[in-house]
Amino acid sequence: MCGIVGYIGNKDAYPILINGLKRLEYRGYDSAGIALINGETRTYKCKGKVSDLENFVANQDKSGNIGMGHTRWATHGEPNDVNAHPHISLHGHFTVIHNGIIENYDVLKRDLIKNGYSFKSETDTEVLANLIEYIYLKDEKIGVETAVRLALGKVIGAYGILVAAKQENNFLIAARKGSPLVIGVGEGEYYFASDATPIVEHTKSVIYLDDDHMAIVEKNNLMLKTIHNDLLEPEVKQIDINIEAIEKGGYDHFMLKEIFEQPSAIRDTFRGRVSERHNRIYLGGLHTALPKINVAKRIIIIGCGTSWHAGLVGEYLLEEYARIPVEVEYASEFRYRNPIINEDDVVIAISQSGETADTLAAIKLAKEKGATVVGVCNVVGSSIPRETHAGVYTHAGPEIGVASTKAFTAQVTVLTMMALMLGRERGNIKADLYLQMIKALSAVPEKIEVILKQADLIKELSAQFTNAHNFIYLGRGVLFPVALEGALKLKEISYIHAEGYPAAEMKHGPIALIDEKMPVVVIATKDKSYEKVVSNIQEVKARKGIVIAIVTQGDHVIRNLADYVIEVPDSHEAVAPLLTVIPLQLLSYYIAVARGCNVDQPRNLAKSVTVE
Ligand code: AGP
Ligand code: GLU
Repeated sequence: MCGIVGYIGNKDAYPILINGLKRLEYRGYDSAGIALINGETRTYKCKGKVSDLENFVANQDKSGNIGMGHTRWATHGEPNDVNAHPHISLHGHFTVIHNGIIENYDVLKRDLIKNGYSFKSETDTEVLANLIEYIYLKDEKIGVETAVRLALGKVIGAYGILVAAKQENNFLIAARKGSPLVIGVGEGEYYFASDATPIVEHTKSVIYLDDDHMAIVEKNNLMLKTIHNDLLEPEVKQIDINIEAIEKGGYDHFMLKEIFEQPSAIRDTFRGRVSERHNRIYLGGLHTALPKINVAKRIIIIGCGTSWHAGLVGEYLLEEYARIPVEVEYASEFRYRNPIINEDDVVIAISQSGETADTLAAIKLAKEKGATVVGVCNVVGSSIPRETHAGVYTHAGPEIGVASTKAFTAQVTVLTMMALMLGRERGNIKADLYLQMIKALSAVPEKIEVILKQADLIKELSAQFTNAHNFIYLGRGVLFPVALEGALKLKEISYIHAEGYPAAEMKHGPIALIDEKMPVVVIATKDKSYEKVVSNIQEVKARKGIVIAIVTQGDHVIRNLADYVIEVPDSHEAVAPLLTVIPLQLLSYYIAVARGCNVDQPRNLAKSVTVE
């Protein structure tokens, strides 16, 4: 995954690089490093976070108007000082930072060893640095740019790279295949980053690099090419990200801030799209694909992790209201199993980052097979929206906490709007039900505000579970994916083992796990399965399990049965996922904080999974 930053211009590069790395740290935090170019190239790198790097370089020479920085999520070689980026080629001619995986690194490495190369690190990146140098030194006539281009032609896999050359140190080369790279355009200066967040405080003009493109960038000039040497005209776009949105704004963690931002994130997601007054839902981004969607024989939803959970909620709602058969697949499985897809299929790809490698590859496969692909993404201008035929942005604002919260509720909001809009267009929803649903959806932000007021109560409750080793989450129907999401949130930030199940499945196995030490979170709001879920709670209590129930306000039946209850306002069943997930997010957050875990940067994870 990794975060990449770079700068070339007249300013001191170091503060730009360090601040940029801090903004990108959500992408990986195994090690960090920088290279500063000021006549000569100085490289500093160490295991750990960007703050460790800052301490490490505190008394070093940090001058230079050109530089690059990297925060790593290790794929090849453990997180240590040596494997940290930048990597320098054997004879010191090239300095490289890399996001992605060079899949044929082993073959390339063996060839290079045969040709006299030795390696300091275990990374695939060092192989690329040495390959560039080997090509460069082999033929005097080959310049830096050609050497990079030829090396990239030999590489299989994914990369976003920045390369600096010792012998021609007035430019940087950026190239991309599969891993994102954005170039910020300033006055006599350029910025580079894996996403726009480190760039927005300096300039709003950006160039998104596409796959197989490379840019040769001096402080006053940018040349864009394909890696096959065809010249391209750079397209400069204006971005609109507000800097406050990517700062913590007084909260202890980004995750908490993002949980609390959900009312406004959902409002932003349906702003201009849902109108109670006109009894209308309109998703402009779907316009071109609507004729296809309306006659689709099937919808396939793909995504990973939390986005896959949103897809499961979408399946329920699309089948219920649009009456189109839906299948939901892990993008990582879909891409490798030769799926049967045809031109009548519509694929909905869900992704917060818009950069998830498995989801991107699954989209490419679906397109090859002729399907219409619709994206539901949060990061504007990211790879998935650019790869899909049509799409809807979630507009949740930048999500920095590795554990997804507001992006999930925004995704579910979009899928709910989609299901209702299609249901209406296809004649499955009558005008009065449509209005009722629009009202239910529009009331969600206010209801979330009511739930958020219980944060202190949830914090208090969570203290009982700081030392738990396992958790079970149960839900039925459209609330089953919420149970999965609650379990994932707890696992990833508190490292407590948790499983989500459809409540009725419990008796087919998981019930064996229940004893007086097992906390069982049951989503038990009033809907058509309510009575059944109450029976499931009875079954847990009969085996002495500890029940934490998420219930509809004023539910005395479950209050008398469960050990703990958290109330959510009454709502239409279709929007219950948007409400019931909130207490689960808060519960995992407070448990993780009480356990002393790094909530925003949980171990082994990264925000944007741009590797397979
Ligand atoms: C969510 O909390 C996770 N960190 C993770 O499962 C995430 O949802 C998944 O990696 C998909 O990411 P995307 O939405 O950016 O594609
Ligand atoms: N493969 C490189 C490494 O292990 C980069 C990893 C990444 O982009 O996640 O260092």
